[in-house]
Amino acid sequence: MTHTLRNIQVPGAKSKALFDAEAQYLAPGTQSVALFSQLAIDRGTGAVLYDVDGNSYVDLLAGVGVASLGYAHPKYVAALQRQIARIHVGSFTTEHRAALVKLLAELAPGDLNRTQFYSSGAEAVEAALRLAKSRTGHTEVIGFWGGFHGKTSGVLPVLGSSFKHALGPLLPGAYLSPYASCARCAFDKTFPSCEWHCVAFLKQKVELETTKDVAAIIVEPIQGTAGNIVPPPGYLRVLRRLADELGALLICDEMITGFGRTGKMFAIEHENVIPDVLTVGKGFGGGFPMSGIIAREEIAFAKPFANPSGSSSSYGGNPLAAAAARITVETILEEGLVEHARPRCWPSCGAGSPTCRSSRTCGGAACCLAWTSWCPAHASCSTRRRPAGSSTRCCRGACLR
Ligand SMILES: Cc1ncc(COP(=O)(O)O)c(C=O)c1O
Repeated sequence: MTHTLRNIQVPGAKSKALFDAEAQYLAPGTQSVALFSQLAIDRGTGAVLYDVDGNSYVDLLAGVGVASLGYAHPKYVAALQRQIARIHVGSFTTEHRAALVKLLAELAPGDLNRTQFYSSGAEAVEAALRLAKSRTGHTEVIGFWGGFHGKTSGVLPVLGSSFKHALGPLLPGAYLSPYASCARCAFDKTFPSCEWHCVAFLKQKVELETTKDVAAIIVEPIQGTAGNIVPPPGYLRVLRRLADELGALLICDEMITGFGRTGKMFAIEHENVIPDVLTVGKGFGGGFPMSGIIAREEIAFAKPFANPSGSSSSYGGNPLAAAAARITVETILEEGLVEHARPRCWPSCGAGSPTCRSSRTCGGAACCLAWTSWCPAHASCSTRRRPAGSSTRCCRGACLR
């Protein structure tokens, strides 16, 4: 399908020819936005992408939420060029990695000060789940309706969406409960008069469905893929208490929300809650495949996770990845990008936005995730009217799945 925008044909002839040539051999399953647009991209500068026909686009997707410095940031380019000419792979200590782990320990709240690196978000989430099992000796995991944590087999059971359909059987021991998604409350209740009905339900679920052997509660501070669902204030604190009662870890998955996207360095800072493990990725590496878990001091040494090679991976924290992440995080700090994002969140929110529950309780937190609203299907999206649990079919789901 081609679109004509002010006399510009999208995709242009060169894009279309390249797209078609690739499509002959590329296995299906590529991200929908690439399939819909059929663009062949030549380069990017700042927030702007240029296709091979010379058309330019403001990339409100930020490379699917990863290009936190935009494209071709001079410092980023220089750092990676320098590093690739020196050493790019291997697990030995490098100056960049040593500086990066120290920086993360300083930036992450509380005693979240032990980082291990991976290459994708799902890989980091799986590592966090392994760490939870190592630490607690428990086996079960709690996730949430609408939750998204990647697409690998180890995380499928904790996805609260249709991504896992037809991919069973899933690993046993996962239990899902409705998220505090108040605009589409699964129980048709209203906050705060509901008095955390969804949490009471979760407690009952643990009591009646699990073997009371819960290793972790895994939660996104703001559900991203589900459509930027901001829970009411206090939700993470309530989950923190529940995890403690169960002897389980609280894992906050900040893959989307981390590194400034919500106007704080990490979204958990809106709630002043310290999880046991923070999972990070996407914008962390500024576009280089880099993810990680940041664990509390007392948690990180649990075995077998902490055994030599027990939590490593071939590419995790390699010299090039460490350089990319260090320069990204340092540049976010140097250029004040977290503060820069803050005032820009708020006006673009608007209580009537389909993905925003209300500007009062949102606090603007979700609105920095604005790259999700680019999708051409957005105008026809009826997020507000969809039943709870079906939220991944929202506009974002349509273009980013
Ligand atoms: C909250 C969250 N966790 C994990 C992931 C998985 O990351 P990746 O695609 O790098 O595996 C995503 C991806 O969108 C995500 O939004």
